[in-house]
Amino acid sequence: MIADIPNSMKAWRVHDWGAPESMRLEDAPVPAPGPGQVLIQTAACGLNFYDTLEIEGKYQVKPARPFSPGGEVAGTVVAAGSGESRLRPGMRVLSIPFVGGLAEYTLAPANATFPIPDSLANGEAAALPVVYQTSYFSLYDRGQLQPGETLLVHAGASGVGMAGIQLGKARGASVIATASSEAKLEFCRRLGADHVFNYSTPEWVEEVKRVTNGRGADVILDPAGGDAFDLSTKCIAPLGRLLVVGFASGRIPTIAANRILLKNISIVGVLWGNHIAAHPEYAERTHAKLMDLYEAGKIKPLITRTYELNQVVDAFRDMTSRRLIGKAVIRLN
Ligand SMILES: NC(=O)c1ccc[n+]([C@@H]2O[C@H](COP(=O)([O-])OP(=O)(O)OC[C@H]3O[C@@H](n4cnc5c(N)ncnc54)[C@H](OP(=O)(O)O)[C@@H]3O)[C@@H](O)[C@H]2O)c1
Repeated sequence: MIADIPNSMKAWRVHDWGAPESMRLEDAPVPAPGPGQVLIQTAACGLNFYDTLEIEGKYQVKPARPFSPGGEVAGTVVAAGSGESRLRPGMRVLSIPFVGGLAEYTLAPANATFPIPDSLANGEAAALPVVYQTSYFSLYDRGQLQPGETLLVHAGASGVGMAGIQLGKARGASVIATASSEAKLEFCRRLGADHVFNYSTPEWVEEVKRVTNGRGADVILDPAGGDAFDLSTKCIAPLGRLLVVGFASGRIPTIAANRILLKNISIVGVLWGNHIAAHPEYAERTHAKLMDLYEAGKIKPLITRTYELNQVVDAFRDMTSRRLIGKAVIRLN
């Protein structure tokens, strides 16, 4: 431990499952890192859709209460648990603790904490790991996206969608994006999407067929579920891969197996968090690849809103009411 770590800190905490409004910003003890852990002075925390599910107690993982939400942070290591030699106090890092980031100090697993270059600002660093690792795992590993293929990214202005568009272009794919408003479609164009369509009404299906000469998309990244998933089966190419990433629309879709058979398509599940829990080396390897893509100018998280620590509830309200575009970040220090 180094000397100037206080005993208590400001932290958002969930005491009872409920809407983000039910959280409290309060004084909480600063945790001490155990073996395999580091303590980070949090500079910024990225927000993710799954935080809202976790606060409501609707996520597959239910942390013991009280807990602080916040799955990804950037900051400075201030203490390392016994046996930790790679990460030292003073290092600037990004980290994927999954919970605990909406606090002035974050306890994080050392194997999900990585040094970052000076070129990567704290806000961008905090916005990067969850959505870029998820879309990397989705497209490059689970979806086997190939150069020259057509990628369709649903909810292209979401965090996962933003990363998907940039990683699709980086792979050499032609990218189509959908979203629910003109402002979001313009954001997708800025990210590099070749074609953008509003998916609030079903006409986008014919548009996808039109721009692919009737063939459809080879790979579809779907963080929305619901209608986006159902209609995707009408405009997926033969041998296509439909990647089931999330259900932000609120509806978990179903599919008749004959549709999978008739078009020779694959419905591919993606649960990146479970994958890195079983294979922590994947997160480290992917982080290194993402940093190379960042340094090469191929990816860059676009943060459209930065909130202060006392504005966390407003930030979650903007997220659940679909007002956010790209990533939102909470600034702490
Ligand atoms: N499987 C995994 O490993 C993994 C990892 C990370 C995230 N996820 C999932 O991926 C999804 C996206 O996460 P994210 O953090 O990128 O989300 P986000 O930035 O908050 O964006 C969610 C997007 O979903 C769309 N949406 C459609 N219906 C919505 C509704 N009723 N309420 C809110 N948004 C709605 C919105 O776009 P439009 O307005 O354009 O429709 C919005 O931009 C979530 O379901 C999340 O749980 C999965």
